[in-house]
Amino acid sequence: MINSEAIMDWGQEAARRLAEIAECSAPGPGVTRFPFTVAHRAAIAQIDQWMTRAGLTVHMDAAGTVVGRREGPAGAGTLLIGSHQDSVRGGGAYDGIMGIALACLALERLADRDLPFAVEVLAFADEEGVRFPTALMGPRALAGTFDPGVLERCDAEGVSLRQALAEFGGDPEAVAGLRRDPAGIRGYLELHIEQGPVLERAGQPVGVVSSICGIERNALTFRGETGHAGTVPMEARRDALVAASGLIAALPGVAADWPGLRATVGEMHLHPNVANAIPEEVRLVLEIRAEQDADREACAARCREMAEAGARAAGCEVSFERSYVQPAMACDADLVAVLRRAAGEGVPILPSGATHDASAMADLCPMAMLFLRCRGGLSHRPEEYASPEDMGVAVEVLARALVEM
Ligand code: GLV
Ligand code: MN
Ligand code: MN
Repeated sequence: MINSEAIMDWGQEAARRLAEIAECSAPGPGVTRFPFTVAHRAAIAQIDQWMTRAGLTVHMDAAGTVVGRREGPAGAGTLLIGSHQDSVRGGGAYDGIMGIALACLALERLADRDLPFAVEVLAFADEEGVRFPTALMGPRALAGTFDPGVLERCDAEGVSLRQALAEFGGDPEAVAGLRRDPAGIRGYLELHIEQGPVLERAGQPVGVVSSICGIERNALTFRGETGHAGTVPMEARRDALVAASGLIAALPGVAADWPGLRATVGEMHLHPNVANAIPEEVRLVLEIRAEQDADREACAARCREMAEAGARAAGCEVSFERSYVQPAMACDADLVAVLRRAAGEGVPILPSGATHDASAMADLCPMAMLFLRCRGGLSHRPEEYASPEDMGVAVEVLARALVEM
């Protein structure tokens, strides 16, 4: 469609924009851009410019999603392309935001081409779920699956999502009303770094996603008894951390029973958490992800048994409560075929072990994703990197997909 020099130009422009918007961050290593913060506000100003340069009409909706729209023929429906503006703490410059940048560049590249549908680029506020104990408000609002109860959830400073959204210029009362009519939506596409090593190992710049993993989080609380670390005999202890440790150490072996399943304890709190007292309480979050929901559920049941056995053996008690669940979502076969054709012969097809806005958009309309190779498979850390060349290829693939859809 275009030559490799032009592809590189689009890629270089993507790299330039991503370097600039990476400055919209809280202090510290890498990028920290939580939703409804000063950094988010600064990022929106740049996203607005990207969308305007692509010929889109821009507004922010009630959920804080920046929406850029390009009109199409009357009654022809709308294709949605999106990703998220937020990052984890100390994250990289690509996870999320790159998908917004590349969508804008693909539409800028197609500014003179008529498309047989309207297109909207959606820059969602909160996909990572790091500031508030909830995520995906923007896409869930559009899909009609938003639970208004989460507006009362608070960040670490005690600010509720409701308050943060309202102060940012959103409208908590209007979020549920953002629901779109599926009849007018042609589908949803998302471009994202792979966040894993598959494409790099395959020597391929892009891949097409087959499905997005299901996720559950379980809140576990182990309760024992505290006491002096120097005087309570070992055999008389009810150490909550000893009770918890067996499960954590066994996770690699447990997970291996289901192909591709991931089990992680990434968050843990000890009480009293001092060097010279026996841990009385351990609270942790056990996250399990799998392509098959049945595998995830079977693993969770096994983990519960192990947690209970570990607690019994240490003279402790444990509670095990599922705090979050998100089913696995298959990408739409027709949209996958569009991306495969646009990406060309031999493009890898791979599942996603990370979650994405697309998983929530799947409740509204058919969805598909294009992954980009990332260096070393690294993500959720400052070293995250996708090359300008690969980003140029992705702009080209998306532009081609839009023209040929
Ligand atoms: C987000 O990146 C997630 O997969 O949790
Ligand atoms: Mn992401
Ligand atoms: Mn992420």
